[in-house]
Order: sequence, then C-alpha cells, then structure tokens
Amino acid sequence: MKITDISAQEVLDSRGNPTVECSVVLENGIKASAIVPSGASTGTYEAVELRDGDSDRYLGKGVLKAVENVNTKIAEVVVGMDVESQREIDQAMIALDGTTNKSNLGANAILSVSMACVRAASLSKGIPLYEYIATLFGNSTDEYEMPVPMVNVLNGGRHASGASDIQEYMFMPVGASNIQEAVRWGSECFHHLGNILKDMGFVTTVGDEGGYAPALGSNEKPLELMVQAIEKANFKVGEDMCIGIDVAANEFFKDGKYELSADGKSLSTEALCEMYEGWVERYPLILIEDGFGEDDWDGFKLFESKLGERIMNVGDDLYVTNIERLERGIKEEATNSILIKLNQIGSVTETIDVIKRASGVGMKCMVSHRSGETEDTFIADFVVGAGTGFIKTGSMSRSERVGKYNRLMRIERELG
Ligand code: PGA
Ligand code: ZN
Repeated sequence: MKITDISAQEVLDSRGNPTVECSVVLENGIKASAIVPSGASTGTYEAVELRDGDSDRYLGKGVLKAVENVNTKIAEVVVGMDVESQREIDQAMIALDGTTNKSNLGANAILSVSMACVRAASLSKGIPLYEYIATLFGNSTDEYEMPVPMVNVLNGGRHASGASDIQEYMFMPVGASNIQEAVRWGSECFHHLGNILKDMGFVTTVGDEGGYAPALGSNEKPLELMVQAIEKANFKVGEDMCIGIDVAANEFFKDGKYELSADGKSLSTEALCEMYEGWVERYPLILIEDGFGEDDWDGFKLFESKLGERIMNVGDDLYVTNIERLERGIKEEATNSILIKLNQIGSVTETIDVIKRASGVGMKCMVSHRSGETEDTFIADFVVGAGTGFIKTGSMSRSERVGKYNRLMRIERELG
C-alpha cells in the first residue's frame, strides 16, 4: 500500500522534554503514528538525536529541526513508497542522511518515520503490530514467546540524583509462567520493597523510570533489601524471582577509575569485577548490564571469562545497538548478551539486523525502553514479534512504563 503523506510534530516525553512524533497516511486512508523515546545516560557511540540548541525554546532541547526534516526532506523520498517495504524505506532514509551516525537528518527524525511505517503497515494488513513485526523478522506467526520483564524498582545514577551510583536494580520474575503472573509478582515485590523502605524511614519518591530512589548510602544495600522484599512477598529467592542490575558504569568512570561515591570507593577494573563476583555469590544476581565503561572492553572480557557461564553479561552503551560494535564484541567474546534500543541506531531494519546477528551467535537480546519514554507502547509489540525473551521497561509505576506491561498483558490475552 502506497504512502501518501508523512508529517511530524513536537510532543513531550516523560521528563517533559520535546521529542518527535510522526504520522503516516496510506492510499487506503489508514493513518498511524509513532513517538520516539530519549535517553539520559546515553552512549557516546549512539546515533545522533537532533536537538535545536535554541536556548529560547525548551532550554535548547527543541526538536523542530528534526520535525522539519521529516516534513520536507524525508517526506520527499518516502511518500509514494510501498509501506510494506520496510527495508527499502529505512535504506532510503539512511542514504538520504548520508552519515554513519544519522547526524544530518537526526536519528529521532528517521526512527519516528520508521516506526510509524511499521505500525501503518500492520493496520493496513489488518494484523496485530507484533504479528507484522514477527514477519519482518521472518519469525513464525503461529507461536510467540512472551518476554521476562526486567522490573527496575530502584533508580540511581543519572535517573535519580542523590541515590545509588548504580543506575538500575531490577526484579526478574524468571519463575512466572506467563506475563500476567510476571507483572503481578513484579508489582507485589515492588510494593513490599516500598513498605520496607518506609519502615526504615527512607523516602519512597520515584526516579525517571518509576523505581524508588532513596539515598541508602551504599550500592550493595539495595540488593539486600530486594531479597527481603522477595521473601516478604513469599516468592522463592533465586528461583521464582531473581535480580538484575544496570550499572551504567560509564557514568562514573573517571580517569581510569570507577568512582563509587555512595560507597566512598575508587576501584580499578579488576577490583570492580571482584566486587561483582562477591555479589553474584551473595545474591540471586543473574544479570549485570554495562558493568564497565563503554570503552573498557578488557573489563567486559575479564567479567565474561570469569562469570559468563553463570550470568547474563549485557552490553548497552558498549554496543549501542550498532552492528559494527557488536561484531567486535562477538570477535573478542566481550559479553554473552546485548541490550537493544531502537533509537540508539535509529531505524527498525538496523535494529532487526543487530538482533538477528546477536541471537544467531547465541547471545541473549533484551529489548529496552529509554529513561525518557512516552505513551507509545511500540516496544511491547516489538519484543513479542522479535521473540527475544526479555524486555526492560521500568518499574511498576508511571504510565509510560506500566503502559508497556499493560500492552504485553493484552497481547497475551489476545493470543490465549
Ligand atoms: P537511558 O538509560 O535511557 O537514560 O540511556 C537506560 C539504560 O541505560 O539502559
Ligand atoms: Zn543501560
């Protein structure tokens, strides 16, 4: 079905910053839109999120240039194309941009069109979004794997000032038999954790991704309290419910040292790795994301050689959903898992290629939101269509997070 019109506009993300929404209209009258998210602890090697830099509007964070790029340059190329030729649409935009990091048109501009086309195509075909995405992957549409959610209940780092250095502490309901159960378990543990914090006299205000953000004065304490919450909720620690963390270590890597201010420690790569080893011994910790800085390949490799058999060693800022960085990771055996963020690379097709390459060599792929999210629940359908088995979409609070869980539960009910 032919694309007859595309247009973009500025809307707000969950932090109140502008982002790009794109609407696509087809020849048959079908209209669909999509909104792109935005990160805070972004990796240096991510595709460029185009911002206006005009300090008179939104403190320089406006996205009118990206909007204009969709409305003029991109529209000129994409209008008239077949909405079902996703790869051609994405390739046309990449060629039009002409840079390796999408700095010309903006990854936010390109991705908004890419996602809106996927949604419009699914509506035009009269099939659910996850089903259409499964066909883009070449996956079966008879059977779907629902993901294990990574429920971020304690926020720190760039997502909550004054809390832990480590950015995210996540419950992982690995023993749940379906999404409804996984969501309930996650919610129950989240609320028990809240009560524990309250009883201890800590605040229960939440950070950017809806997790609590108390100043516990330690990066290890959260793990202890999470185990207590799992027990309080009557789940088997390490069997029903496990824990994952996103260290986002790049954010506190200064002059060759990892500066853990909550612990008053300055650690070398080796010492940080030892700290993680201790935690893996003492807690039901099954996943560590960005345990090291984005250029500390040796750190990831050391960790992989020591703990890669036991836990998921995930690269986020390390790979930025970029196939070239992934190839290096595969070659050097840096990690066994990769975080997937559509806006780190800036198109649906390139994201699919990265997932296929990573899963092709047995790496686990976690589809992820950004800390600046929106009401768009695209990634819930995306993870089901992709069948990667894990989704990271924040806490059991704040509607831009919960919306994805609600969409997953609806998909599961629809599939029976
Ligand atoms: P970001 O954080 O969206 O702020 O980059 C998420 C993450 O690091 O996984
Ligand atoms: Zn991360």
